[in-house]
Amino acid sequence: MPTLDIDWVRSQFPALGVRVNGRPAIYFDGPGGTQVPQRVIDAMRDYLATSNANTHGAFATSRKSDEVIAQAHAAVADLLGCDVEEVVFGPNMTTLTFSISRAFGRELGPGDEVVVTRLDHDGNVAPWCALEERGCRVRFVDIDPTDCTLDMADLKRQITARTRLVAFGYASNAVGTINDAREIVRLAHAVGALAYIDAVHYAPHGPIDVRRLECDFLVCSPYKFFGPHSGALYGKREHLTRLRPYKVRPASEENPYRWETGTQNHEGQAGILAAVDYLAELGRRALPSVTSRRAALLAAYEVICPYERGLAERLISGLLSIPGLTFYGIKEAARGAERVPTAAIRIAGHTPRGLASYLGERGIFTWDGNYYALNLSERLGVEPSGGMLRIGLVHYNTAEEVDRLLDALRELVRK
Ligand SMILES: Cc1ncc(COP(=O)(O)O)c(C=O)c1O
Repeated sequence: MPTLDIDWVRSQFPALGVRVNGRPAIYFDGPGGTQVPQRVIDAMRDYLATSNANTHGAFATSRKSDEVIAQAHAAVADLLGCDVEEVVFGPNMTTLTFSISRAFGRELGPGDEVVVTRLDHDGNVAPWCALEERGCRVRFVDIDPTDCTLDMADLKRQITARTRLVAFGYASNAVGTINDAREIVRLAHAVGALAYIDAVHYAPHGPIDVRRLECDFLVCSPYKFFGPHSGALYGKREHLTRLRPYKVRPASEENPYRWETGTQNHEGQAGILAAVDYLAELGRRALPSVTSRRAALLAAYEVICPYERGLAERLISGLLSIPGLTFYGIKEAARGAERVPTAAIRIAGHTPRGLASYLGERGIFTWDGNYYALNLSERLGVEPSGGMLRIGLVHYNTAEEVDRLLDALRELVRK
């Protein structure tokens, strides 16, 4: 069984060398944005140093830019399992989603319904709620608060013959729950609705195959999977062709460029390409027999998933032994495949901000609040008192780092 070469992984990320108050920084803030490997930094710098230009010009740097942009689209197509023309870049997931919702809204009117969930980041809620301006009704799918999973019976109730689109997350950025994306797509399609998946939080943790999912759209953010601040969207060719984006007249009518309004972040795309190649190299090191980049990427997740699952088990069992701690989400080790290594907690007598500050002083970076999963923190009743503390692990984290966090929390509750 191939395993993750954690020493090689860590050697790729210069930020892991940062120290805070004399101790190595621990990045448990991955759900807010991951660190980047050296090659991403190099690719962005090299682009700016040698290829910086606008597109489609009749000179060398412009041609180089066109090439980098084409390669970046091809890299993300390999990551998502789709065709190059189906990959749209943008500033971030939220902006891309607003752009699709605006275009989709042109086809909708009173009587139409869209379905969103209480588990989701607002980036996959607010753009669909905006369709209320067109007279659409927005229906919300509830969660089971005992383990923060989607209430599938409620989902089935909310999807009706009037549903035109179902928007949901692949994994929750707050509590780590993985949704049964394929089943939700199936339920949406059964009534003729489109399925829009927010894979921002899932992408660093698991393989994505949009053809297997059969989804209509899927969005992710390269800055959450070891790349630069940016967003990427998969759109099924037929929708990208049929829907009409709001665009300027001289811009290309070709997919995906008709969806990429204005000048894009070219150095960002150079960085995205490098981030995907980092993951592919991780996969090739684990499974040298792979031939294509797609196969290398799948091989990367073959080692990332079990490694992260081991870390999550260690983290969750340690957290559950801390007196006064409330844990939100799936806690049983046997259900490890239903979650990513993102944990949300509260500790009696401490605000989430107080906990994050205490840990931050010790060089341990966590997040507090609602992380824009506003419906969830409201549903769990924690919004008025500061939300939850989120500890988000990715594959460059280690068991020692988890232990340092647990020790720090144990010390705090002993005081
Ligand atoms: C699950 C999820 N969806 C959407 C977003 C929004 O992404 P972006 O910052 O690219 O707009 C985030 C960001 O935290 C997220 O975690």
